[in-house]
Amino acid sequence: MSGRRLVSSSSEIRVLTTPQELFAAAADEVIRAANEAVVKRGRFTIALSGGSTPKSLNNLLATNARTSLPWDRMFFFWGDERHVPPTDPESNYLMAEETLLSKVPVPRANVFRIPAENPDAAAAALAYEETLRKFFALGPGEFPHFDLILLGMGPDGHAASLFPGTTALQEKSRLVVANWVQKFKTDRITLTLPVLNAARCVTFLVSGTEKAAALHEVLETDALGEQYPSKLVRPTDGKLIWLVDRAAASGLKG
Ligand code: 6PG
Repeated sequence: MSGRRLVSSSSEIRVLTTPQELFAAAADEVIRAANEAVVKRGRFTIALSGGSTPKSLNNLLATNARTSLPWDRMFFFWGDERHVPPTDPESNYLMAEETLLSKVPVPRANVFRIPAENPDAAAAALAYEETLRKFFALGPGEFPHFDLILLGMGPDGHAASLFPGTTALQEKSRLVVANWVQKFKTDRITLTLPVLNAARCVTFLVSGTEKAAALHEVLETDALGEQYPSKLVRPTDGKLIWLVDRAAASGLKG
């Protein structure tokens, strides 16, 4: 399968031939969303993804796309974080700092990282929830509308740190929770599904053959969301874009 497939009026799958084309398409999506948001609302709010896939996108944003983005009007958050300090090689914040934020003129006050150095993961999640409630001026029961949330997908179909069979999948009211992940024997701190699904646009970046089986399950079968949490990411009133390379799309029947 290659090219673009519209799944519905608000969700599409774009298959790019190579990882490089995938990251170029992702950079274009960030530029489009950023400039549109600044025109409409005066600011752009983005939640970054962790893992390895976004590194190449960050490099592109810090170089080729550098002059096309309104850095002083951009506000950075994270979709999830490992329960480690910001200096730890496992830190999603550190990855973004090294590959993007340290290389572009974004005001430090516009960067809101998850305080995962707190030994109490639940307390770190609550603190970040308060940060979101304050920044988005939320009332009780309200969810933030990020302009763009970037997500990766694991070979097991997880998104952010919403792993198969974990308690966070049931969360209906919290914005951010600590989520125990048995296979890693650690807590992760993650935005919840209501927050992901309140976004104006969610864009998945999926690259590599190791993701092909899960991508087929997520996009083409009626497997349970409990087993493949990326299936549960369906923005209520926003766009869903899957940017996948040909290797990741190799399992799609299309
Ligand atoms: C994390 C991520 C996670 C990631 C997927 C894909 O903290 O690990 O947020 O959801 O996006 O695991 O990871 P890769 O991009 O490394 O394949």
